[in-house]
Amino acid sequence: MTAVYLDHAATTPLRPEARAAWLAAQDIVGNASSIHGGGQAARRVLEESRERLAVVLGCDAVEVVFTSGGTEAVNLAVKGLWWSRPDGADTVVLPDGEHHATLDAVRWLVAHEGAIVKPVRLDGVGRIDASGFADALPGAALATALIANNEVGTVQDAAAMARAAGDAGVPLHLDAVSAFGHLPVSFRQWRADAVGAAGLVALSVSGHKVGAPVGVGALVVSRQSTPTPLQHGGGQQRGLRAGTQDVAGAAAFAVAAELAEHEREAEARRLDDLRDALARSIRSSLPDAEVLGDPVERIPGNLHVLFPGASGETLLFLLDQAGISVSTGSACQAGVPEPSHVVLALGRTEREARSVLRFTFGRTSTGADLTRVVAALPEAYARAAAAR
Ligand SMILES: Cc1ncc(COP(=O)(O)O)c(C=O)c1O
Repeated sequence: MTAVYLDHAATTPLRPEARAAWLAAQDIVGNASSIHGGGQAARRVLEESRERLAVVLGCDAVEVVFTSGGTEAVNLAVKGLWWSRPDGADTVVLPDGEHHATLDAVRWLVAHEGAIVKPVRLDGVGRIDASGFADALPGAALATALIANNEVGTVQDAAAMARAAGDAGVPLHLDAVSAFGHLPVSFRQWRADAVGAAGLVALSVSGHKVGAPVGVGALVVSRQSTPTPLQHGGGQQRGLRAGTQDVAGAAAFAVAAELAEHEREAEARRLDDLRDALARSIRSSLPDAEVLGDPVERIPGNLHVLFPGASGETLLFLLDQAGISVSTGSACQAGVPEPSHVVLALGRTEREARSVLRFTFGRTSTGADLTRVVAALPEAYARAAAAR
């Protein structure tokens, strides 16, 4: 029996069109910085890809800085904005429940650079407290926030956060990795009235979340912002990300992003239908289980469920044995499962934060997948609860 893949938020299958674009670009012999014909051929594919991705992201091509993925993009934004901060600014506005790429980059700044975190609380469904966010901004070195929480799926008001940062004169980075391809993302629109290096100045995206290969991502960096680079070398990409550029990765990313955007609205409806059907089935057959996150404003295809009395890890393992791939959503540190820091941030107990599963539907998901998971869950839950 084929496996049922319900972990599209972790990574989603490569799109055939992205694979074809990647292979075609790999056959070009030439470094995109070289002057000769081969180099110029590579440069053309690279710049055309940058242009196409910029259209999807709603920014100028020069603002697209290709990276090795979301983690590098987030690190470049968070550390780069910190290192280029105005004198005297020493706080970082950080909502609870951010992805580890952000959380650990900020923790590093705290440990090594004396940064002071101004935390912003989440409510019980994972929404960032808008007034708490605005109140934390004045005088901050930078602010950073997820557009949509990658675990519980709750979507934030990105436009309001961007406006508040612009009004406070603080540079804002938005992590759009989990939102891109599922929700409308427009750098230009969110930056609208901001001036200089304030307001929304940086936005992270990652290729493998939209059907490009793992290993390519991008940071949109406003023309008016100059974060300090993480790495130094050949001065590529406005000097913000030195290193020979990955033409094939860029080509595949542009193709995948265009397709994801083209399909976005229809696909969102389809994935929400699958997700809602799973939620209904869980509610009727497993009344103890509880769906977490915002019931309305959430990433299409994301269902996050608390299974009281069961370990999420055990459930994951039992479902895996039944050929169903899901996630607890949280990190595993040195092989030891951690309670989800996102679920803790919703005000839940540590025990509850170890009892969750994330189901994420995606492009290749079907009604047959839904049938399989609906059939397997009750027994898996009963066994996991008995094992605790
Ligand atoms: C919200 C969010 N930010 C950042 C990342 C890191 O992206 P990458 O896997 O491309 O390094 C992820 C990946 O799971 C994510 O979900």
